[in-house]
Amino acid sequence: MAIGILGAGKMAQMLVPKLVSGGHHVTISNSRGPESLQPLIQQLGSGVSAATPEQMLAEADVVILATPWEKTPAALAAAGSWAGKVVIDATNNRRGPRPEDLIDIGGKGSSEVIAQMVPGAHVVKTFNYEPIPVFAAGLPAEGDSGAIFFSGDDAQAKATVAQLIRDLGGEPIDVGSLVEGGKLHGMGGPLSLKLKLLAPKEAKALLSTLR
Ligand SMILES: NC(=O)c1ccc[n+]([C@@H]2O[C@H](COP(=O)([O-])OP(=O)(O)OC[C@H]3O[C@@H](n4cnc5c(N)ncnc54)[C@H](OP(=O)(O)O)[C@@H]3O)[C@@H](O)[C@H]2O)c1
Repeated sequence: MAIGILGAGKMAQMLVPKLVSGGHHVTISNSRGPESLQPLIQQLGSGVSAATPEQMLAEADVVILATPWEKTPAALAAAGSWAGKVVIDATNNRRGPRPEDLIDIGGKGSSEVIAQMVPGAHVVKTFNYEPIPVFAAGLPAEGDSGAIFFSGDDAQAKATVAQLIRDLGGEPIDVGSLVEGGKLHGMGGPLSLKLKLLAPKEAKALLSTLR
């Protein structure tokens, strides 16, 4: 698949090597233009290129959102039409890692807010809660794949994202709809509080206590 990433920071850089090793071509983008990303492209190696957000969006089958919350509305608006795209929302409504860095969005789910900004797109929420160093470090030592929660409303988009999670070495765990499921693994939700990758059995057991 052609995977685009809106953003080229910590989150994007963690995902690129995993996506490339899963056989995908990845295009990263930022607000400062592809030239600014050339040193990073050299460092990341083959299978990844840089483009403007508009080019990235036009060419991608699946787009991962990896921009800071407060910059995301402008970034989405500038990129063009999102209709028909599968959009993975990895953003969180926070300014930083501390509890007081959480941005009040009036009780809505953060991906619910994002979905309203990308009309016609099929939004799937995932990768938002995984602590990057843990996920980037790979699978747990026992060889059990790490559970990755995801939620969304479109069955086909969810199947695409579930396969992508497998390509990255994870085990997809479907948490339900974007609004209700999304709140479970969104910031502050009961599934977002674990600071390690759960084994699939552990993740399913935890999820069953919440339903
Ligand atoms: N880091 C984590 O551990 C982690 C874990 C889970 C989820 N997340 C979520 O992932 C998102 C990104 O986090 P991060 O840590 O990767 O942030 P980051 O390192 O600050 O990177 C943000 C990226 O977004 C780009 N950007 C900013 N404004 C933009 C715009 N208008 N158009 C296009 N690109 C723009 C930045 O590049 P320019 O400034 O050059 O445009 C930069 O490449 C956040 O919503 C965060 O909550 C992060």
